[in-house]
Amino acid sequence: MPIPPQPAVAQFDGGCVFIDGAYAPLSEAKISLFDWGFTRSDATYDVASVWNGAFFRLDAHMERFFASLQSLRLQIPYTRDELRLILHGCVRAGGLKEAYVAMVCTRGVPPRGARDPRLAQNRFYAYALPYVWIAPRDKQLSGIDLFISERQRIGPESVDPRVKNYHWIDLVQSMFDAYERGHDTSCVVDAHGHVTEGPGFNVFVVRGGVVHTADRGVLEGVSRRTAIELCQRLGILLRIAPVPAADVRSADEVFLTSTGGGVLPIAKIDGQPVRQFPGPITARLHDAYWAMREEPAYRDPVDYQD
Ligand SMILES: Cc1ncc(COP(=O)(O)O)c(C=O)c1O
Repeated sequence: MPIPPQPAVAQFDGGCVFIDGAYAPLSEAKISLFDWGFTRSDATYDVASVWNGAFFRLDAHMERFFASLQSLRLQIPYTRDELRLILHGCVRAGGLKEAYVAMVCTRGVPPRGARDPRLAQNRFYAYALPYVWIAPRDKQLSGIDLFISERQRIGPESVDPRVKNYHWIDLVQSMFDAYERGHDTSCVVDAHGHVTEGPGFNVFVVRGGVVHTADRGVLEGVSRRTAIELCQRLGILLRIAPVPAADVRSADEVFLTSTGGGVLPIAKIDGQPVRQFPGPITARLHDAYWAMREEPAYRDPVDYQD
C-alpha cells in the first residue's frame, strides 16, 4: 500500500498517530469497539524509542514485530522499509527528540455476525508520544521497590510470551497487588515459582558477580538482549536460566530492562533493601546501555529538517 510523503516537522506537535493510512493528531487515535484487538486481545505490537533524536535498534524492534505478526497470522500492508518511514514520520510530525514509538496490528472487525477471524481485515496503527519511563524519575533515584506477586504469567503453552501481546490482566492485577502493599511495581512468576517479567520489563539479578535472567516464559526484550550483549562485551559472567523468586530476594543486585528506561536498578524487593543499590555491575551496564545508544551501528537518526 502506498504511504504518504513524510509529514511536516512538528505538524502534530507533541505526538502523532498513523491511522487509516495517514498521519493525524493523537485525538484521532481511535479504534472500533468491534475490533478483535479490543474484544479478544487479538493483536500484537512493538514499542521502540527515540533518544537524543535517534531510534535505538529499530531493526530489532521491527524484526520482532514482523515475527509476532507471522506467529499470530496477522498481516500489515507495508514492507519493512515502509514501516520504518511511517515510524520516522510519526516522530517527525510529533516534533519529538525523545519518544515512545508504537506499532500495532489488530485483527480488525469481522463482517457482522461472522466469528471467523480469517474474514477480518487486519488494521495497522502507529504512534509517537513523548518518551515514557517505566518508573518516574524521582522514584528511580530514591529507589524502586519491586513486589514479587504470586500471580502466574499466562503460560507460554497458551500465549507465546515472545510474541508481544496485550494479555496483561495478570500483569495489571500484580500491579494492584504491589500498590495495595505499598510497593512501586511488580513482577509475576511461572508455574514453578520462577520470576518471569513485569508490566513492561524483564528482570535481572546479580549473585556472586554473575548476572542471571530468565530463559523462558518471557518476552525477549530488546533491552534484555542489549544487556545480555553488553555482559558479553564487558566480560561479565551471565547465566540465562530460570530464576527462583528466592534468588531475587537474596540477590546482591537487581535490575530491570525496558525500552522505557534501559537498565534500571531496583532498591528493594518486597520492601526489603537489596544488598547493593545501585550495584556496581548494574551501574556499569546502565552506563554501557546509554553509551551504546549513541553508537552509529544502533542509531537511526530522525530527519527533523523540512
Ligand atoms: C511483558 C514485557 N516484558 C518485557 C518487556 C521489555 O521489552 P523491551 O526491552 O523490548 O522494551 C516489555 C516491553 O514492553 C513487556 O511488555
